[in-house]
Amino acid sequence: MCGIFGYVGTKKNAPKIVLAGLKQLEYRGYDSWGVAAVETLKSNSKDQKSKTSKNTIVVKKKIGKIGSADVSDMPESDIAFGHTRWATHGGVTDVNAHPHLDCSGKIAIIHNGIVENYEELRKNLLKKGHKFLSETDTEVAVHLIEEYAKHTLFSKAVQKAFNEMEGLNAFIVLHADEHKFVAVRNGSPLVVGFGDGENFLASDASALLPHTRQVHFLEDDQMAIVSEKGVLIFNAKNGDHINPIKQHLDWSESAVVKGKFPYFMLKEIYEQPGMLADITVESRSAAEKLAETIKKADKTYIVACGSAGYVGIAASYMMSIVAKYQAIPVVASEFAYHVPFLTSKSVVLALSQSGETMDTLDAVKKARKKGAIITALVNSLGSTLYREAHQKILVGAGPEKAVCSTKAVTGKLAHLVLLSYALAGKGREGEEVLKKTVRAVKLLLTPKNTKRILSLAKMLSKKEHIYMIGRGISYATALEAALKVKEISYMHGEGFAAGELKHGVIALIEKGTPCVAFLPNDETYNDNLAGAMEIKARGGYIIGVSHKPNDVFDFYIPVSDAGVATVIPNIIVSQLLAYYLAIERGYDPDMPRNLAKSVTVK
Ligand code: AGP
Ligand code: GLU
Repeated sequence: MCGIFGYVGTKKNAPKIVLAGLKQLEYRGYDSWGVAAVETLKSNSKDQKSKTSKNTIVVKKKIGKIGSADVSDMPESDIAFGHTRWATHGGVTDVNAHPHLDCSGKIAIIHNGIVENYEELRKNLLKKGHKFLSETDTEVAVHLIEEYAKHTLFSKAVQKAFNEMEGLNAFIVLHADEHKFVAVRNGSPLVVGFGDGENFLASDASALLPHTRQVHFLEDDQMAIVSEKGVLIFNAKNGDHINPIKQHLDWSESAVVKGKFPYFMLKEIYEQPGMLADITVESRSAAEKLAETIKKADKTYIVACGSAGYVGIAASYMMSIVAKYQAIPVVASEFAYHVPFLTSKSVVLALSQSGETMDTLDAVKKARKKGAIITALVNSLGSTLYREAHQKILVGAGPEKAVCSTKAVTGKLAHLVLLSYALAGKGREGEEVLKKTVRAVKLLLTPKNTKRILSLAKMLSKKEHIYMIGRGISYATALEAALKVKEISYMHGEGFAAGELKHGVIALIEKGTPCVAFLPNDETYNDNLAGAMEIKARGGYIIGVSHKPNDVFDFYIPVSDAGVATVIPNIIVSQLLAYYLAIERGYDPDMPRNLAKSVTVK
């Protein structure tokens, strides 16, 4: 969701650097973009004052994707910033795109988040004569800063305005006559990048990789003053100086480019065997430590959204099967109804790729207020969830650039397999199960099998509906498989607990209705097969995803047995099917319509 990128240094092509940074953030989903740069007009006057008064801010902003747009028509500049907007207040128009300027045109702002009290602030500013051009909440912020800057230092004006605004936001503000950014955040991520004679700001560390690996993740209510000379960090509430905590990004730069792949999604699907192998050999001790925490809990809740939520359901079944441990999977946006039952001995295990999903952060905040122990499995280093959890495990999938989650889903599942076995005191056995899983995934990703799935996608691409059924862990697989198909091919996919078919769902089945049946070699096989037969008897077209063929299957996709971890190759089948369906139906699998990579608003 929405992206921020800023450059200040000695290079004179700051607008181009910024636009390239925004392109690195496109995967997060957006509906418009914009860049602002300071143009320093050469003046022959000697005195500094008249020189600075010649500085102007030039803005270029448009609706739609960046695509092949360029900023070569913008002035040479060594300070610029840009934004990709995911509209919340005000339609998708050029005027509502960021950056926004104050009345004087000397101050520009870009913003991620929502200024909750913008209407009241706007009313007061209108009374003071401020003129608004857009419908956005963001523009209120820049006029508020302008108002304060009449009587105080620019950075103080930003601080004062920030503390008056409510909501979860990240702002970067630029003044034409001050060669620096003032950035501040509360609830929406911002990262400072340290260069050599140049510094950067971004909403996502992956955009900084082409420039620097030294970063400081701003924490809530921290403010940064960023110039080419250096970075000052303050507490935005009381002004106290804070020493930056420089962290090193150890991602390879190849992690943030498509390389030989046509789309990030396909690249990230193929990164899974290597990622799973790394998790297998590196993660048992972290799983065992987390298991110790969970064993002491009076109740454990697994909290997440979307695909991460389906991982939570699969994990609850794994823990039950392997360790006879009951964990309750809860959709984060519905967690409020569990809060009354939390105690200081309750454990919340939050699952998240981005670590910034507002619903999940909100659930964690509610749990923390009740004194519960917050644990987290997160893929984004330095993210809010990663920093706020008492105990955390980094998924280690590397940057995930496609909007739809693939490797972060299977990465989380791999850690949760290890956790389930660790809960049963069988950590080493968990590693053996994952080794079988890596083999199963490698087998699935051979050209022979991927071609089978491509041929299935070609056959189904004109269908309007597709159903997925499973029991037990495969119920979670069915839910995730259906989401993948929905979110990138826009075909209507529905996942069901196979046992629910005869309670109403089967009314939907007509001749030729495609139904994917996940039939791993486990306790659900026979009952699941019965469900597939019920659909077949009513004309359904059965796609069997199983360790062995069966006459009921009209189409068979082989997946070798990996015990409870068979959920991983089964989900990868659905990733490939969804990817090929999207391509066959003419859509971009990396940037599906209406979706954002990280949903940082409620
Ligand atoms: C996954 O394909 C979806 N894009 C979405 O459901 C996602 O899993 C959900 O928004 C949670 O995101 P998170 O893992 O970053 O918290
Ligand atoms: N609320 C702001 C707007 O609608 C920012 C949205 C975003 O985070 O991109 O312009």
